[in-house]
Amino acid sequence: MSAQHDIAAETELWDTYAASAFKDDAEPSFCWSQYAGHGPGPELLGDPRSVLEVGCGTGRALVYLAQRGVAARGVDLSPVMVRKTTTRWGGTGAEFVCSEVLRYLSENEETYDAVYSMFGAAWFTDPSSLFPLVRQRLEPGGVFVFSQPPAIPGAYGPQGMYKGGFAGKAMFTYRYSYRPAVWERLLTRAGFLTADAQVLDAPHPGHIGTLLVRAVAP
Ligand SMILES: C[S@@+](CC[C@H](N)C(=O)[O-])C[C@H]1O[C@@H](n2cnc3c(N)ncnc32)[C@H](O)[C@@H]1O
Repeated sequence: MSAQHDIAAETELWDTYAASAFKDDAEPSFCWSQYAGHGPGPELLGDPRSVLEVGCGTGRALVYLAQRGVAARGVDLSPVMVRKTTTRWGGTGAEFVCSEVLRYLSENEETYDAVYSMFGAAWFTDPSSLFPLVRQRLEPGGVFVFSQPPAIPGAYGPQGMYKGGFAGKAMFTYRYSYRPAVWERLLTRAGFLTADAQVLDAPHPGHIGTLLVRAVAP
C-alpha cells in the first residue's frame, strides 16, 4: 500500500512545528545543509530573476534571495508559519503563499527560473506527482534544486514519520527517501534534461550528511 496523505492532518502537524521552529530574531541565511555555513550556497540556483521555494518554512532563505534583488515567492502548507513569515518579513519583497505544493503548482501557471526546497516540500511530497509539475513551472533551462537527509540504507520510498513523540495524538506525515541514482532517474523520467544527486559529507566524520539534488529543465 502507498502513502495516504491527509493534508488537513499534515497542516495541523506543520502548524505545531511552526509554533516552535519560527524564531522572531532569526536573520536571513541561505544554506542547503543542516550545518550552518557548510556546503555550497545559492550559486546552485544559477543567477535567477525569479524563484519559488516549496515548503519555505521560516522564510530565511527566501528573504536572503529577495534582499539580493530576486523575485522570491515561497509556498508553505502551514497557515501559522505563513502568518509569522508574512508579519516578520513583510517589506523585504519576499512573498509567502499558504498552499499545499501540488495544489499550488497545478492551479498557478506562473513560471520561474528556479524552484527549490531545503528540507522542505520536496522531502514530504511524492516525487512522481511533484517532479512533473515543477518541470512545467520552470522556464527553459531553469533549475530545480533540493536538499534533505540521505536515505537510511535499505529504507526507501515513503517513510511514515510521527511528530511530537509516541504518546498522545497521532500526528504523522510521510517523507520520501531514495538512493541518489533513483532520484536522478525520477527526475529525468519527469522530463528534466539533466539530474545530479550527491551526498555531501557532514563537517564531522560519522555525522549525517546532506542529499543535494540538482536538475535542469530542457
Ligand atoms: C522541515 S520544514 C523546513 C522548511 C525550511 N527549509 C525552513 O528552514 O524552515 C518543512 C516545511 O515544509 C512545509 N510542507 C510540508 N509539506 C508540504 C506540502 N505538501 N506543501 C507545502 N508545504 C509543505 C511545512 O509546512 C514546513 O514549513
